[in-house]
Amino acid sequence: MTRTVYVNGEYLPETEATVSIFDRGFLMADGVYEVTSVLDGKLIDFDGHAVRLERSLTELDMPAACTKEELLEIHRELVSRNEIVEGLVYLQITRGSDGDRDFVFPDPETTKPTIVLFTQNKPGLADNPAAKKGAKIISIEDIRWGRRDIKTVQLLYPSMGKMMAKKAGADDAWLIEDGYVTEGTSNNAYFVKNGKIVTRPLSNDILHGITRKAVLRMAAEAQMVVEERLFTIDEAKEADEAFTTSASAFVMPVVEIDGVALGDGTPGPIATRLREIYLEESLKAAI
Ligand code: PDD
Repeated sequence: MTRTVYVNGEYLPETEATVSIFDRGFLMADGVYEVTSVLDGKLIDFDGHAVRLERSLTELDMPAACTKEELLEIHRELVSRNEIVEGLVYLQITRGSDGDRDFVFPDPETTKPTIVLFTQNKPGLADNPAAKKGAKIISIEDIRWGRRDIKTVQLLYPSMGKMMAKKAGADDAWLIEDGYVTEGTSNNAYFVKNGKIVTRPLSNDILHGITRKAVLRMAAEAQMVVEERLFTIDEAKEADEAFTTSASAFVMPVVEIDGVALGDGTPGPIATRLREIYLEESLKAAI
């Protein structure tokens, strides 16, 4: 089926949607993005994604391409037109194109941002067999830039990290900086020891995950103990269990780190329970 996508105010078949070769997203990775999941045909935590998008744009001095209400309308229209029951909505806003290449930002009065949205159909997203198996991860150095709190489209190193994991026979990689785990290539990282959930605190070093925020709130409501602090990969390897969170994989149990099995090598009870709670609660609040 040909998808209907959204580009700068128009709904078009994917085969007819275009952006300029001078677009700064293409030339400079001068753009930000969001990924919002869809379950039961509804958007999960749309508000959280809209608020983070606004923050990313502000941090980069980029004008908003449209209002939050318009964004919601576009998300819903695409979900409906593409008949998405389970899947994702990808949104990207770039600083646009002024018809040439220049390091200096173009004048926002004359160069409008480019806004693109498309859906990804993912039947079985909630009931993902990978979550029952759990993920094997490797650790690699974190060589990304210093503003990982801004959700930019500079995803080359995370892509390389996934490829390194694949080559090593694993599913994903966790990134290490100055001896401490920052996050996963496209998710936030946690381990559990003696019933306590440990994750890195928010700063410019990691993306402020929308799923992270929801899961930490739900963990606290379920009387689970959460500690936000720096942690090493060795601590994680000695943990009882571990997991990651992201809008595209929700809560994903981790069963192996750098070849070391965690616990009995199967998804742990806390990660499994948090996944259930997250799916249940976020579906209730979906719009
Ligand atoms: N990735 N950390 C990084 C580096 C990420 O790229 C992501 C999301 C997260 C989790 O954030 P959230 O819970 O808001 O999805 C953490 C998305 C899903 C992606 O790039 O596809």
